[in-house]
Amino acid sequence: MKRFAIGLVATALLGLGLTAAGCEPPPPAEGEGEEGEGEGEGEGEGEGEGEGEGEASTIDATDATVVLLRAVVTDFIGNTAANTSTNGFFSNESLDANRLQNCLVHQVATVLGVAGANYAGGAEASANDVYDVTNLTPILCRDMVSIHAGLGVSEDQFTFLVGDLSGAMESNFVDQPTQTTILTALGGLHDDIVEHPLNNETIYLRLGGKDGINTALNGEDCDPATGGNQDCFLARVLADASINGFFAAFSADDVTRLTECLQRQLAEATGGPDVYFESNGLAETQVDGTNQCQSMLDIHTGLGITDAEYESLDLHLVDALTALGVLPDDITTIAGVLTGSQICKDIIELADDATETTACAAFDPDDDPDAP
Ligand code: HEM
Repeated sequence: MKRFAIGLVATALLGLGLTAAGCEPPPPAEGEGEEGEGEGEGEGEGEGEGEGEGEASTIDATDATVVLLRAVVTDFIGNTAANTSTNGFFSNESLDANRLQNCLVHQVATVLGVAGANYAGGAEASANDVYDVTNLTPILCRDMVSIHAGLGVSEDQFTFLVGDLSGAMESNFVDQPTQTTILTALGGLHDDIVEHPLNNETIYLRLGGKDGINTALNGEDCDPATGGNQDCFLARVLADASINGFFAAFSADDVTRLTECLQRQLAEATGGPDVYFESNGLAETQVDGTNQCQSMLDIHTGLGITDAEYESLDLHLVDALTALGVLPDDITTIAGVLTGSQICKDIIELADDATETTACAAFDPDDDPDAP
């Protein structure tokens, strides 16, 4: 059997321990929100005592409002980790989940006017770790503009994230005036965070982000314009007798892992947030920090893949994207990334005939039997 199967680790979602910490049942909210209303909308609210390199803020982690906010933030991150519309942003090793969790608590505590809270997001602020009340480690919470710059957040992604926060407040029975106070203040940060207001400024966004890529790879229907369900990329590959032998030993987990790694690869190539080799296990089940997606060279060495087999696989992706209505220029760019780079050289081992000296033929869409 050809060696395409990839080692697996069943990684629990939220393996970073994000759900368990600080999840004691919250006390009933008592309308604390009216205090401090409007804070957090402008620049520089964080410039108080303890801001920046100074001493950490001294909010009381056992304060009822802070306990409630911890539960809200824990649930918010759980919602976000499960939301494929945005979880690609939180799925790389570089994410400091502890800092994110604590800074969010401090930020919302500041909005609510909790004593000692000083982080409105307009400027950096040092905060104590409210998730570890026995070891108050100072954490630097950075300003919103710097931390989100270059992430490529779209309008829709911002809305999804705010929706996940709303859901967390609802499930923790935060009263409506307090919810409004928080959402109004954080909504005021929109312009600091959103870089793609039209939701279509990158190929990744035009593909429909992670959800769109996952559909192209392994969705139910990749030709919505015609009746019935038409195969997407993996189904086309598995139905193609000229190459499906490579995948004959694949289990359901193997297919999931392949999809997760292909998603990372396409996202990284098209302007998405994923970094191919850097899964943290938060958003995926079959790749994580100890079982990363592997290099193209390592995983394909010894398979004896030919030019023709490689091209067949590429063409199935082109066909799936075409049927989904992806713009031709975007498809050309995606195909170019897969074929015009080192990836092709790393995968192909056998030339198709003796006249070829390199084992990496030019990709030729005219070879596509499905092409119009
Ligand atoms: C009102 C909306 C938002 C608020 C209040 C907010 C707040 C925060 C805070 C407090 C941090 C931690 C700062 C730090 O580590 O110093 C952070 C980090 C981050 N945020 Fe946001 N954020 C919002 C929207 C978004 C959206 C819409 C996305 C993406 C869809 C996003 C992606 C991220 C990422 C990836 C990080 C971690 C960056 C890193 O550590 O390198 N945020 N955010």
